[in-house]
Amino acid sequence: MAKNVLEIGYREIILSKVICDSEVLDEAGLTLEVYPSREEACRAVADELVAEIRDRRELVLGLATGSTPLPFYRELVRRRQEEGLSFQGVVGFNLDEYEGLSPEHPESYYSFMQKHFYGQVDARAGHLPPGIYQNAAQACAEYETKIREAGGIDWQLLGIGGNGHIAFNEPGSARDSRTRRIELDERTRLDAARTFGGLAHVPRAALTMGVGTVLEARRIVLMAWGEGKSEILHRALLERETADLPASFLQSHGNVRIVTDMGAGGWALS
Ligand code: F6R
Repeated sequence: MAKNVLEIGYREIILSKVICDSEVLDEAGLTLEVYPSREEACRAVADELVAEIRDRRELVLGLATGSTPLPFYRELVRRRQEEGLSFQGVVGFNLDEYEGLSPEHPESYYSFMQKHFYGQVDARAGHLPPGIYQNAAQACAEYETKIREAGGIDWQLLGIGGNGHIAFNEPGSARDSRTRRIELDERTRLDAARTFGGLAHVPRAALTMGVGTVLEARRIVLMAWGEGKSEILHRALLERETADLPASFLQSHGNVRIVTDMGAGGWALS
């Protein structure tokens, strides 16, 4: 079947979740689940992660920032506080950090992770690329080495940018790109303008894991919420893979779970 033909039906309806049936997605080793709400979706993803945490002495997580993972981190923190879930075997690596922001800057991804996750759970370690550095290439090589020395990423959480980026791999990023300094797209900077209190305050560059770095994760879970992500997600999953839309490279990973609410994934049900 041509990759751009959308032919999706219901495979299973389990409680409130719909798993979409599509030859294209099946061939890609990709599952798409649409939930009535992001909270329900996050509970389902937390169930998967908790099973991984309980199964292993050590788990290397790839973690994302932004608005998408917030309800997920809330759910993990709730499980820590109310159910005593331990994250002591967890070592985390974040996808990216803005250039020029110190860890103390309120909009740094370091601050974000402290506030929403690391400050509230007992994880063993949490790494982010630095925002301040002398030599970008060296800082990126060191980050790659740290990931490798930890044994590689077992379980990677992703969001998707309005322009189809994953991490800060903006359109044009190659499938085999590695952790590097990248100039942020105008679209990405505009999306961030509100949290920074205006476009002028949004950094122009970042350090980001590469597409190749992300695709080396053994398991990838991508979350998308709201109608604003609907069209780009549809294109990423069903158009041919292209560097113009870096999220499309997930099609050839082989072990990807996409989880959406009705706004972002409702198209799959019609
Ligand atoms: C964040 C990241 C980005 C975001 C994406 C979506 O660490 O790497 O790829 O996942 O920009 O952002 P939100 O979730 O704010 O819509």
